[in-house]
Amino acid sequence: MSDQKIAVVTGGSRGIGRDTVLRLAHSGVRSIFTYHSNRADAETVAASLAEAGAPGVALQLDTGEAASFDSFAAQMKGALTTLGVTRFDYLVNNAGTSSNRTLETVTEAEMDELYNVHFKGVMFLTQKLLPLMNDGGRIVNISSGLARFAMPGRIGYGPIKAAVEALSRNMALELAPRRIAVNVVAPGPIATDFSGGMVRDNPEVNRMIAENTALGRAGVPEDVGPVIVGLLSNGFGWVNAQRIEVAGGMHI
Ligand SMILES: NC(=O)c1ccc[n+]([C@@H]2O[C@H](COP(=O)([O-])OP(=O)(O)OC[C@H]3O[C@@H](n4cnc5c(N)ncnc54)[C@H](OP(=O)(O)O)[C@@H]3O)[C@@H](O)[C@H]2O)c1
Repeated sequence: MSDQKIAVVTGGSRGIGRDTVLRLAHSGVRSIFTYHSNRADAETVAASLAEAGAPGVALQLDTGEAASFDSFAAQMKGALTTLGVTRFDYLVNNAGTSSNRTLETVTEAEMDELYNVHFKGVMFLTQKLLPLMNDGGRIVNISSGLARFAMPGRIGYGPIKAAVEALSRNMALELAPRRIAVNVVAPGPIATDFSGGMVRDNPEVNRMIAENTALGRAGVPEDVGPVIVGLLSNGFGWVNAQRIEVAGGMHI
């Protein structure tokens, strides 16, 4: 790997992904990050990266559309050329949307969407991008506390995130010959736009979370970004196939 590291972060335009790419920029790592539909926010993040002295590239991607990943990989090659390199070092599979459904109300279409965005997307995007990744790189897949504990209305989302954790262990095993470490960051409830901004904007939900969290509050993106960046840093090179819950001690 060259000294100048390059990260690919999906869903880097808002929330946890945005905190991650901004933080990476401040530690000298340039990012190719994706957004889904919110181009304006992506452009604001790109401007901040340039200001931080680590210009990045924003690309549009729907992680639920695996059929588009070949053309995304082609765009990635162009973005790498823009950054003056041919390969990247770190992949953070972060993009995602929520689903608040019970066993009684969940539909097949919603389950298919969750599977496509959160599981199939992570698997096949990683598959398509691996040829562009340096040996010795790192992958961080974003799961959720809901892979470990249940909460009302999360019948699809929690189990799909649990599947991502199993996927990550298998990735770690298969990518070991290339010395690529694969870890999982599992945030607790984080105050972002996610789930309609529920954790941030609904006082009742926010209070319930605080009451069930040892450290007494809901999380913010600035709680999670440093952990992701830490897992990509030199000192964490021997951490592999692990799940780190970043939830202030929820439901312990
Ligand atoms: N917030 C929480 O409470 C929480 C807790 C545990 C785990 N997580 C996980 O953490 C990750 C990030 O969540 P967040 O809270 O930062 O969310 P967020 O603030 O809502 O941001 C989501 C990001 O993902 C992108 N995105 C959404 N759907 C996409 C799709 N189908 N294809 C590609 N990109 C898509 C969005 O792009 P646009 O801006 O273009 O829409 C945005 O950049 C997700 O995997 C989520 O499941 C979140």
